[in-house]
Amino acid sequence: MGIQNNRCSVVLRGRILQNRNATDDLPRDQILCGDNLELIRELPDRSIQLVITSPPYFQQRDYGGGMGNEACLEEYLDSLISLFRECVRVVRDDGSLVFNLGDKYIDSSLLLVPYRFAIGATETGLVKLVNDVTWIKKNPTPRQFRRRLVSSTEPFFHFAKTEDYFYNPDAFMADETPPKKSQSQGMNVGRKYFELIDQSDLSEDEKHNARDALEEAIQEVQRGEIAGLRMKIRGIHAEAFGGQDGGRKIQIEKNGFTLIRLRGNKLKRDVIEHSVESIKGIRHPAIYPVKIVEEFLYLLTRPGDVVLDPFIGSGSTAVACKQLGRYFIGYDINPEYCRYARSRVVEAPSKTLTFIRE
Ligand SMILES: C[S@@+](CC[C@H](N)C(=O)[O-])C[C@H]1O[C@@H](n2cnc3c(N)ncnc32)[C@H](O)[C@@H]1O
Repeated sequence: MGIQNNRCSVVLRGRILQNRNATDDLPRDQILCGDNLELIRELPDRSIQLVITSPPYFQQRDYGGGMGNEACLEEYLDSLISLFRECVRVVRDDGSLVFNLGDKYIDSSLLLVPYRFAIGATETGLVKLVNDVTWIKKNPTPRQFRRRLVSSTEPFFHFAKTEDYFYNPDAFMADETPPKKSQSQGMNVGRKYFELIDQSDLSEDEKHNARDALEEAIQEVQRGEIAGLRMKIRGIHAEAFGGQDGGRKIQIEKNGFTLIRLRGNKLKRDVIEHSVESIKGIRHPAIYPVKIVEEFLYLLTRPGDVVLDPFIGSGSTAVACKQLGRYFIGYDINPEYCRYARSRVVEAPSKTLTFIRE
């Protein structure tokens, strides 16, 4: 680890990843101490694949300077949007931005700060809001309120600069085990369609073919070759609003039915359930889970891409990047957090290229 002035670059030995994206003079694997709005100006346009970050929440904590303690909400949102504009500038055209924010009550009324920010961000006209991914906290702070419920979710907003953003949904939440089908569910899959075929006004030939096709697909489910099936039968199932897509519509007209094989691609939902983390020895009050950052890295970046976190705090983004072979750049205004972050990254395990999730 080399230190120059207030800068420190964490050299990750053994990394052989090629950086296809960034310009040659882009800092990589560095945690820089200073004001992010000044530091980010040094980055070239379109050099970063992903900005992922969690800004200080409005009037929530004192981090020893920087953003978060503006006198009013409008001022806070203005500073955040100024930084957001710079983030958009440095993101590549196929890149993304992910912002996680928490909310705030004032006079017993929820301000909806994250959503005001998201609206402001889209109103810049620079990005599209792709998703509002909800982090469900498994262990929210156990506070009892007499007149309201404990809030236990936070949004992660995914913005993209263009419609050509890099996207790898197969890798997102790939370790999640799908809910198990019971033995009887497995045996019953698709059986209801036999009755519907009988009730239909298909010709005898069409009914015969439909039963054969259905039996074959059921066997495939039972052998575990496909995850499930859907059948659409002429006269029984209403045409979807806007019509079935071309091929299926023709099949229904011609054969009397169509069979949809579900290939086992898990439904990729806009929720991530994970505990709030506190890490021994790291005295940062607002750490977001490395696991959540990792899932966004899988979804929105390739190994060797450069990721920026302008509010790096305890270094969670940097740790996730090191673990998954992405380069990171992190900024924090508080020198103590920069030191924590650097030590945390140095200790984090570095994986080799074999960790790529296909
Ligand atoms: C919510 S915390 C980020 C926590 C981080 N995601 C983690 O997992 O540890 C926000 C951080 O932004 C830093 N910060 C606030 N204003 C800043 C600014 N203008 N420039 C750089 N960092 C700033 C604070 O010191 C704080 O560590």
